[in-house]
Amino acid sequence: MKIEFLNLGRQPIANGFRTKDDKSEEQFFDLRIGFDDETNLVSLMGFVDKSKLFNDEYVYVSSGSETMRRHFSAIASMLKARFGPSAILEIGSNDGVFIDNFDPDSTVAVEPCGNFAEITNSKGHKTFSMFWNAQAADAVLAHRGPVDVVFAANCMCHIPELLDAFVAVESVLAPFGIFVFEDPSLDEMIRNYSFDQIYDEHAHIFSVIALSNVLELAGLEIFDVERIGVHGGSNRIYAKRIGDLSHDVTARVGAAIGSEVALGLDSMDTYKLFAQTVRSNCQDLVTTLSRLKNEGHRVIGYGATSKSTVVYNYCGIGPGIIDYISDTTAHKQGKLSPGVHIPVVPPTAGGIEDGVDYAFLGAWNFKKEIMSKEKAFIDRGGKFITHVPSVHVIP
Ligand code: TYD
Repeated sequence: MKIEFLNLGRQPIANGFRTKDDKSEEQFFDLRIGFDDETNLVSLMGFVDKSKLFNDEYVYVSSGSETMRRHFSAIASMLKARFGPSAILEIGSNDGVFIDNFDPDSTVAVEPCGNFAEITNSKGHKTFSMFWNAQAADAVLAHRGPVDVVFAANCMCHIPELLDAFVAVESVLAPFGIFVFEDPSLDEMIRNYSFDQIYDEHAHIFSVIALSNVLELAGLEIFDVERIGVHGGSNRIYAKRIGDLSHDVTARVGAAIGSEVALGLDSMDTYKLFAQTVRSNCQDLVTTLSRLKNEGHRVIGYGATSKSTVVYNYCGIGPGIIDYISDTTAHKQGKLSPGVHIPVVPPTAGGIEDGVDYAFLGAWNFKKEIMSKEKAFIDRGGKFITHVPSVHVIP
């Protein structure tokens, strides 16, 4: 049974950026998250209709940062070296930042957002514009036959019907095929109080414990796991069919599960404590930003992320505190952020403009890349603020 442990209140669609003259009624939903005491899966209490989230207007571009471009090219090289796939499927191929590292003769992709499917199709990677399910698996099998590797990045956690999605993966695997997928880690979220990993698109936040339980129901087992730095700390999971002896189960799997048990990810008490800290961190953020504003400082947001939508709406931080949000994504620029309606603008040439004193790091997961890019701002005394793991000014 799924039991609620945190209520993040009424939230808009996290990537639902609005034009200034949009008069349509904005949609809100209750963002509540719970823990399933049977599978230990942490999931939203209610899922938002997926066609409202992933459609032809989807704005998130996977290749939008240097960090992610390098990340995907490195995984592609690693998969080629370690597994040498002759046929590979990507689920949730976005703008092709991963799949384009492979010869189109060996690829097939599934991407529900038509605007992105068009991009990868035009690059020669057969892309079905569908949600991942049994029908999509049939389309893949008809086009390319069974595949050696199924890859998905930041996609499986988007799928409410997780078991069905895993069953569909199993159905397209070649006899010794493997399934490699990466998503934000629950372990990292709990340790870092990064509650803004919870938003409409993230139907689940995965622990290795829960994944192992749900994969098993689909006839799959984890044979390796790696902790990776992207998206605020993620796990890359390697799974194979139960009974396939061609890949040894590494010691990392037991170690990851052991450390999650030590952190208490199999116990509701852990989540209750997490929720208490999240509530107090949010109050702290409001107090800190309001004080800076009252002292006459200029504060902006840096990165109009889905995560920041959750923070601004949950904590009630709007344009009275944050002048604007700077973001590199063309589709977000000139629009208003979801819910609280802070203007989103393109980054100023040469870095954060003069006169800005503080920048709230909406994209805290890109802290390193941003800090090195914004050296001039820091050199003239500008400061970044983050709420992860607790509210502080970054020295
Ligand atoms: P991400 O953290 O992946 O977002 P989400 O929470 O939606 O999954 O997205 C990063 C956002 O930050 C994206 O809109 C691009 C933006 N960004 C900048 O504006 N400047 C930067 O230097 C970087 C690295 C990202």
